[in-house]
Amino acid sequence: MNTITEERAPHRSRPALGQQRTFRGVRAQATGHPQLTSHRGRPPSAYSAVSLFSGCGGLDFGAEQTGRIKTIWAIDNDPAAVRTYRHNLGDHIWQMDIAEVEFPDVPADILLAGPPCQDFSSLWNHDGAKTSRGNLFREIARFLDQRHPKAFVVENVPGLMSANRGEAWLLVRHALRSPSRFLYDSPGPRYEISAELVDFADLGVPQHRPRLVVMGIRSDLGVRPPAIPRPTADAHVVVAKALDSIPIPDDAPNHDIGSDSDVVIERLKLIGPGENYRVIPPDHPLAVKGLISHVYRRLNPDRPAYTIIASGGGGTHGYHHREPRRLSNRERARLQTFPDSFIFHGAERRSNYAQVRRQIGNAVPPEAGRVIVDALVDALRRAGVRGTLAREIEQSRRLVARLATRQQSA
Ligand SMILES: C[S@@+](CC[C@H](N)C(=O)[O-])C[C@H]1O[C@@H](n2cnc3c(N)ncnc32)[C@H](O)[C@@H]1O
Repeated sequence: MNTITEERAPHRSRPALGQQRTFRGVRAQATGHPQLTSHRGRPPSAYSAVSLFSGCGGLDFGAEQTGRIKTIWAIDNDPAAVRTYRHNLGDHIWQMDIAEVEFPDVPADILLAGPPCQDFSSLWNHDGAKTSRGNLFREIARFLDQRHPKAFVVENVPGLMSANRGEAWLLVRHALRSPSRFLYDSPGPRYEISAELVDFADLGVPQHRPRLVVMGIRSDLGVRPPAIPRPTADAHVVVAKALDSIPIPDDAPNHDIGSDSDVVIERLKLIGPGENYRVIPPDHPLAVKGLISHVYRRLNPDRPAYTIIASGGGGTHGYHHREPRRLSNRERARLQTFPDSFIFHGAERRSNYAQVRRQIGNAVPPEAGRVIVDALVDALRRAGVRGTLAREIEQSRRLVARLATRQQSA
């Protein structure tokens, strides 16, 4: 059965309640145990996922590493990130402005979403929910209102909780708990939500990366969102393990080095591992005036890295612990737990330093995604919440990929 509708209606007009296109037919067929392999003779199934603001696919890749989730449809408007996603995860991603898209009617047990966080990040200004980017949260509510997934995972920066003096978080929380009430002041699905501040270093990522993770489970299922486990809270993975235990070959993809000027190299030679620009005396010819401690900060091999960021000019690239140079994108990818086989693309060429840096810095580290989604899937399974038939998932993915190709060439 093909549950995807190809026509696009203006999404602002909400379908009347009870007349929304649903995947009821799919649900009726989904009789299997939620695993990709068959169980006691039942047909194989998994939890189907839809991914919004998918970027290069960090969260989706991590979710799929659980072996119990398959992403059917994904969307992002960054052409470079979409190229990377296609290369590593599949053709089921659409390159579009989410505000312009009519969500396809595909099986969606779980929603994965990592909306842009720049407006809530403590490194930038705090315009939060007032900006159009901050308002992209409404698109998550629109999906929940239309498609009623059983559960969701939304990742963002902790600054979301304090932006606009806490107003932004009140809005987002309302949007995630009661999306239909939030958008249209009308009845619709409700979600039990949890919100946890997590340092991804506690989840096996060789990097301190404090993030806000919101999980939701549809209230009618009667399941509480699980606590996020902290498997490495007492044994962080350190930089030396991530970067030195298996050396990166010089010709590894996305491993461009040697982009620093002579002045920067000389400056870095004055800064030891784990130190920053502040160790250079102010009267030294190579001294710099910085405001934040991550300027010209070199990694400490015995600790997790500091947060890998997506952009920023001189002094903010993140600097190697043994060599006086900025990190390569492959090194950043390792600190974000992407395997070396995960290749990043620029918009036009494979090696486009700034575009690739942005994708990596924006991503949810796959290992963190795996741990979080695994906990959610465990909770759903324990409660007997069923997924989607594997053959239904494969069929939908193939159709979405065909439509993506058509959309791309349109
Ligand atoms: C924080 S990143 C997501 C990272 C992703 N979750 C991952 O793990 O790799 C946010 C993404 O939202 C995308 N984005 C921003 N505005 C958008 C829009 N209007 N429509 C679609 N995607 C958008 C950006 O291109 C960016 O890739």
